[in-house]
Amino acid sequence: EMAKKGGYPHYMIKEIYEQPLALKSTFEGLISDETIIEAADLISKKDKIFIAAAGTSYHAGLVTKYFIEKITGRAVYTFISSEYKNIEYLVDNDTAIIVISQSGETIDTIKAMRSSKNRGGVIFAITNVIGSTIGREANYVVPMRAGPEIGVAATKTFLTQVLVGSMLAVNLGKSIGKINETEYNQMINTLSYSPNIVGSSISMTEGIMKKLPERFSSKNSIYFLGRGLGVPLAYEAALKMKEITYIHAEAYPAGESKHGPIALIEKDFPVFFVVTKDTYEEIASNIAEMNARDAYTIALASEEKLENLQPRLTITVPKVDLLLEPYSLIPPIQLLSYYTAVVRGLDPDKPRNLAKTVTVE
Ligand code: G6P
Repeated sequence: EMAKKGGYPHYMIKEIYEQPLALKSTFEGLISDETIIEAADLISKKDKIFIAAAGTSYHAGLVTKYFIEKITGRAVYTFISSEYKNIEYLVDNDTAIIVISQSGETIDTIKAMRSSKNRGGVIFAITNVIGSTIGREANYVVPMRAGPEIGVAATKTFLTQVLVGSMLAVNLGKSIGKINETEYNQMINTLSYSPNIVGSSISMTEGIMKKLPERFSSKNSIYFLGRGLGVPLAYEAALKMKEITYIHAEAYPAGESKHGPIALIEKDFPVFFVVTKDTYEEIASNIAEMNARDAYTIALASEEKLENLQPRLTITVPKVDLLLEPYSLIPPIQLLSYYTAVVRGLDPDKPRNLAKTVTVE
């Protein structure tokens, strides 16, 4: 059993550590395949761009939306697969739908895909299983190449989805004419560093992430706050925490935390800030608001930001380009949930009531 887990006590921690390797194979696959370039050319001509996904894949969809909008200036709508019925009437033959599914078998995402296809939409799928229902039925398929993921809580499949989504955003930028050849090559080169960034983020944060859970593993609630790109990363952090530790975790855009969540703050309530580029000034004031109410504020931030933030604890991650921030900020978040589950005596690989693939509506 230990051998199958490569010497690790759980699949989840093995899969967290496998991320540099997984991302390397994702990246190499992406640059040796023309599918994403062809798909981007077609998608760039469509009037509407939608993204459909569930669970962690939905969060990868929100990150993809962020980068497509930032790079191309085109608006993207990301929706939760089970909500497709509320927007399906918007889909026509001038719509591209990006479906993201690790398994390619999530029933809600299959239904969203089929409904969109019937209405003339062109389907671009990001999946880890090429032979899956979604892999077979989509018009374009780009594999994540993460390798099998056994842990129920998605880890390496999240960042590999984000890498494919980011690569699509860069290709769309070029097809639309928003970035030139030089900028395109620079961005691709930047993304080639994603495996290294995950590696250094893990080594920079694993020590503190092993110790930190002792401080709050007995808490009933925890908040994750961010702005901009930090919002979907905070959503993913809260989902991981709920899934495997059963601690109530909620994610919010930091600015919106004043409209409700702050009412629950009392002494030592843990509040995590996921600090991405361009959000620093505003996040600093949200940290101050939480400090004033005696929350236990923790900031995940890159080195450059350190001296200006005033959280009770700062966890330093590598300083990187915006395109690479998911790879520096997500590993400590995954380690935090993992070690919290372990401290609470839970099996992170087999969370109660959850399934790896959800084939019922
Ligand atoms: C389940 C799994 C999650 C996953 C979600 C979507 O809830 O436990 O880890 O993110 O399904 O699965 P998919 O295979 O479509 O990405």
